[in-house]
Amino acid sequence: MSERGNFGSRLGIVLATAGSAVGLGNVWRFPYMTGQNGGAAFILIYIACILLLGLPGMVSEFIVGRHAQANAAAAYDKLSGGRPWKLVGYLGILTSTIILGFYAVVAGWCLQYLFASIAGQVMGDADYVSRYFVSFSSHPLKPLLWALGFLLLTHLVIVRGVRKGIERASKFLMPILFVLLMILVVASCLLPGAGEGIRFLLMPDFTKLSSGVMLEALGQAFFSLSLGTACLCTYASYFSRDTRLLPSAGQIALLDTLIAILSGLMIFPAAASVGISPDSGPSLIFITLPNVFQQAFSAVPAVGYVVSIMFYALLVFAALTSTISMHEIGTAFFTEEWNLPRRRSAWVVTVVASVISVVCSLSVGALPSLQLMDRSVMDFCDQLTANFMLPAGAMLACLFVGWYIPKQVARDEFTNFGTFGTRLFPAYLFAVRFLCPLCIGLIFLHQLGVI
Ligand code: PHE
Repeated sequence: MSERGNFGSRLGIVLATAGSAVGLGNVWRFPYMTGQNGGAAFILIYIACILLLGLPGMVSEFIVGRHAQANAAAAYDKLSGGRPWKLVGYLGILTSTIILGFYAVVAGWCLQYLFASIAGQVMGDADYVSRYFVSFSSHPLKPLLWALGFLLLTHLVIVRGVRKGIERASKFLMPILFVLLMILVVASCLLPGAGEGIRFLLMPDFTKLSSGVMLEALGQAFFSLSLGTACLCTYASYFSRDTRLLPSAGQIALLDTLIAILSGLMIFPAAASVGISPDSGPSLIFITLPNVFQQAFSAVPAVGYVVSIMFYALLVFAALTSTISMHEIGTAFFTEEWNLPRRRSAWVVTVVASVISVVCSLSVGALPSLQLMDRSVMDFCDQLTANFMLPAGAMLACLFVGWYIPKQVARDEFTNFGTFGTRLFPAYLFAVRFLCPLCIGLIFLHQLGVI
C-alpha cells in the first residue's frame, strides 16, 4: 500500500478528482465545442448528458475502483475473476495516454501565452491577436517544446510525489480561478456588442440539433468529467471507506459544469464584441481572451496585464492537475502490473505521450499534411477519444457494475454498507443497467448509420 497510498489526505483525494475534472476541457474545449455546435441547444443536451449519463457513469467507476483498490486493469480483473473485462482497464489506459498526448499540446499553448503575456507580446487589435496565434502555433519548434515541457512538468510531479503539495495548492488556487472567471464574465458581458454572444449562449436554436451534435455533447460531457478513461476508477482506488460516492460525484459534476458555463459566458460575449466567429474551433479562446484583457481593462491597462498573467497561470495549474490524473492511470498500471519501479513506469507513459504530442502539434502547425481520415492528427485523436473511446469506456463500466458484479457489492459500495442513500440505489441500478447503455448505444448506432 505504500506506493498506492502516497496521495495526500482523504479529503485530498476527492479534491484531486475534482482537479482532474476541471481543466482545459472546461475552459478551452467546452467553449469551442459549444461554438461549433450551435450554442444554447448544445448546452442543454450537455447538461442532460451530465445528469443522466455522466453521474451514473462516474459512480460506476468509483464503485469498481474503491472496491478493488487497484489500478484500472487489475480492478476489472479482480472483480471479474480474470474474464476479458480487464480489457476495459486497458482501453482506459490507452485512451488516457492519447488524451495526455494532445492535451499537452494545448497546455503548452497556455504556457506560451503565460510567458507572452508576461512579456507583453499579445497586445494589439483583434486581427493582430489572431495572427499571433497562427504564427506561434505553426512555428516548427516552439509549440513542440512547450508541449514537451508540460509533459516533463507532469512527469516530475508524478515521480517526485509532490501531489500532496499540488492538492494543498489547489485548495486555494481553484477558488481564485473561479473568482477570476466571474470577474472576466462580467467584464466580457459589458463589452460593446456583447449581447449577440449572450443570446448565442442562452437562446436555444433546436433546428441546429442533429445526432452529430448529440454525440459531441456526450463526448464533451464525458471528457470534462474525466469519465471513461478509468481515471475515476484509479482515483477511487485511493478513496477512503467513508467517502460517499454519489454526493462526491454530484459535487464534482456541479463544479465542473459551473466552470464550463462560466467559461462560455466569458468567451462568447467577447468574441461577438470583436467579431470573432463562435465556430473558430480550437483556437477560439486563444484569439478571444487577449481582447478581453485589453479592451475590458483599457482604462487601467496595468490591471489587464496582471489579470491576464494570473488567468493563464491558473489555467496552466488547472491543466496540470488534469494531466497528472491522466498520467497516473498508466503509471499505476505499469508499476503494479509489470512490477516496474514507479520512476520507470512514469517514463514509459511520458515517452509514449511525448511522441503523440509531437505528431499532434505538428499536424496543427508546421506539417498540416499529417492527417488521418481527412482531419489533422490532433483533431482525429481528440474526436476518437472524446466521441468514441470515452463513451465506450463509460458504457462498459456501467454494464459491468449493472450486470456483471454481484449486486450486493454494488449496493455496499453505493450505500457505504447501508449507511446512506439506500433509496437511491434502485434508480442508480436502473440507470446503469438500462438508461446509460441504451442511450450511448443508440447515439453510437445512429452515428454509424445503422439506425
Ligand atoms: N476532465 C479533464 C478536463 O476537463 C480532461 C481529462 C479527460 C482528464 C480524461 C482525465 C481523463 O480538462
